Amino acid sequence: MTMTQADAAVDRAAQALASGALAILPTETVYGLAADAADPRAVAALFQAKGRPRFNPLIAHVADLAMGRRVGVFDERAVALAQAFWPGPLTLVLPVADGDAVCDLARAGLDSVAIRVPGHPIARAVIAALGRPVVAPSANRSGRPSPTTFADALEETGVFALAALDGGPCAVGLESTVVALLDDPRLLRPGAVTREQIEAVIGPLAEAEDDARRSPGRMARHYAPQAPVRLEAAAPEADEAYLAFGPGAPEGPRVFNLSPTGDLAEAAANLFAYLRAADRTAPRAIAVAPIPTHGLGEAIDDRLRRAAGFVG
Ligand code: TXA
Ligand code: MG
Repeated sequence: MTMTQADAAVDRAAQALASGALAILPTETVYGLAADAADPRAVAALFQAKGRPRFNPLIAHVADLAMGRRVGVFDERAVALAQAFWPGPLTLVLPVADGDAVCDLARAGLDSVAIRVPGHPIARAVIAALGRPVVAPSANRSGRPSPTTFADALEETGVFALAALDGGPCAVGLESTVVALLDDPRLLRPGAVTREQIEAVIGPLAEAEDDARRSPGRMARHYAPQAPVRLEAAAPEADEAYLAFGPGAPEGPRVFNLSPTGDLAEAAANLFAYLRAADRTAPRAIAVAPIPTHGLGEAIDDRLRRAAGFVG
C-alpha cells in the first residue's frame, strides 16, 4: 500500500466507526473488533457480534494519555505506568471520569473504566481520526482463541465489520496486561508487560483473589480451540497434536514448536496461531509441553490454563 492508500483506509475505518458500524483493527497484541465507545447502539452490536456476555466490560483504546484523561481519573501511579508503557500492551482500570465518553454498556455499568494506548500505529491513527476512544475486544467470537493474523480476524468476526485493516501479524500475540488502580494495585490479567516490569515502576502488586468478580471477563474456559487441551505433556500420545517448546522436541506433521530456541516472546507471538493450526488437524486432543512460568511465561501459562478449561 502507498501512504495515501493507507491514509484512505484509516479514514474509511474512522468513518465506519463514526457511522455506528464495527471495524477490525490491528493492534500489537491481537486483532480487535472496534466500535465507537460513546455509541451505545454500536457497542450493543459489538457484544452481539462476539456473542459476549454483557457483564464483561470492554477496554477503551485511546490515541494518547491526553485522550485517556478525558475518560479515566489518573493518579500518580497511573501516570507513571502510562509514561513507562504507553503506547503498548498495558491496560489500566481506573475510576471513570466521564461516563458518556465510554458508555455504560461498554463499562458493563461499572464506575471504573479500562484504558490503553495501543502500540500499533494503524490503531492509533484510526482513533486519532475518529477523535474519541474506541472499545475493542479481541476480534474472536467469545470463548475462542484471539486472532493474531488478519486472516484469523476475518474468519472470526469479519462478517460483522464494515471496515477491516490489515496490519500484519501481531508482534506480541497475547492480550494486554490488565492492572487495576482502584485501591491497592492489582494484576487482573497477566500479559505482555510482565509483573516484574510493573512492580519496578509502582512497587508490589496485590493478587486478584476473586478475579472473576474483579475482572468480569476472566471466565475459566476461554481462548479455547475445538479440541480439548492437555497441559504439561512431555510428549504427544496417539492422535494428539502437540505444541512443543524449546530444542530437542519431537517432530512430526502435528507438532508445532512455539519456540525451537526456548524464547518466551517468540512462544507468546506464536501461541494462538499454533493453537488454531493444531486444531485444524482435528486431533483427539492438543497436548502442550511444559513452559516456564516466569516473566512472559506467566501470561502464556494463564492463557493455556484457560484454553484447557481450568484456572489455577
Ligand atoms: O490486548 C488487548 O487488550 C486486546 C486488544 C484488541 O487491544 N483487547 C482485549 O479486550 O483483550 P478483551 O475485551 O478481550 O479483554 C478485556 C479485559 C476483560 O478481561 C475485561 O473483563 C477486563 O479487560 N476489563 C475491562 N474493563 C474492566 C473493568 N472496569 N474492571 C475490571 N476488568 C475490566
Ligand atoms: Mg478477549
